[in-house]
Amino acid sequence: MMNRIALVNMKGGCGKTTIATCLAAYYANKGIKTSLTDYDPQGSSINWLKHRGINRPAIHGIDIASQKRLANLAWQLRPPLDTKISIIDTPAGIESEQLRKIIAPSDTILIPVMQSQIDIRTATRFIEILLVQGRVRVTGKNIGIIANRVYSHTSAYKSLKKFLMRLDIPLVARLRSAQCYINAIDNGIGIHELNEEQAFKEQYQWDKLTTWLEEKKPL
Ligand SMILES: Nc1ncnc2c1ncn2[C@@H]1O[C@H](COP(=O)(O)OP(=O)(O)OP(=O)(O)O)[C@@H](O)[C@H]1O
Ligand SMILES: [Mg+2]
Repeated sequence: MMNRIALVNMKGGCGKTTIATCLAAYYANKGIKTSLTDYDPQGSSINWLKHRGINRPAIHGIDIASQKRLANLAWQLRPPLDTKISIIDTPAGIESEQLRKIIAPSDTILIPVMQSQIDIRTATRFIEILLVQGRVRVTGKNIGIIANRVYSHTSAYKSLKKFLMRLDIPLVARLRSAQCYINAIDNGIGIHELNEEQAFKEQYQWDKLTTWLEEKKPL
């Protein structure tokens, strides 16, 4: 059974691509058949994959935007049948209609949120549209928040936490703002493939995330 994990948030620059690529690299290194689908017309995840050395554990990339331009058949937009983990990166400012199509087949929805007031406010509104207003059907899906580029417990975070508690959505991991994420994305690798002190320090939070994912849907 394929496990489909979608990274979503209407807000740009919150870490969707960073987390999507790191997760894909993490699973590929475990020897798990992994695919990475990029819905972003900017193709950041696909671009990352292009920088990935051929000696690294392979990840199957699907560039939705360019495939659509070529009017390719639907099956070419889907991961290979033997894929175990399918990671889906989505663009900022995504419309409800497209979001609905992406979320429908997904098992898990991960929402990265940065810690500025404005980011938290936008994310709260996004979650509200998603869950409270029910514009996108999410019944039966696992939903988790990832606090990204965190350096301290701000009051904005406290209010986000309260909001999430009310909706019973877990804050699964807190990733630090760290240069190692930028190094990883620039070199087509994941945080787990970096031999850096800073990357090791992040391990604990990634373990929390992958353990949660495993609990929600065992591989
Ligand atoms: N934890 C982090 N520490 C340091 N830099 C980070 C971190 N997370 C993301 N970044 C950087 O912030 C920028 C935006 O991140 P990313 O591209 O992952 O966001 P995104 O949600 O995919 O953006 P978009 O909505 O434009 O697709 C990138 O330059 C990335 O390297
Ligand atoms: Mg992106």
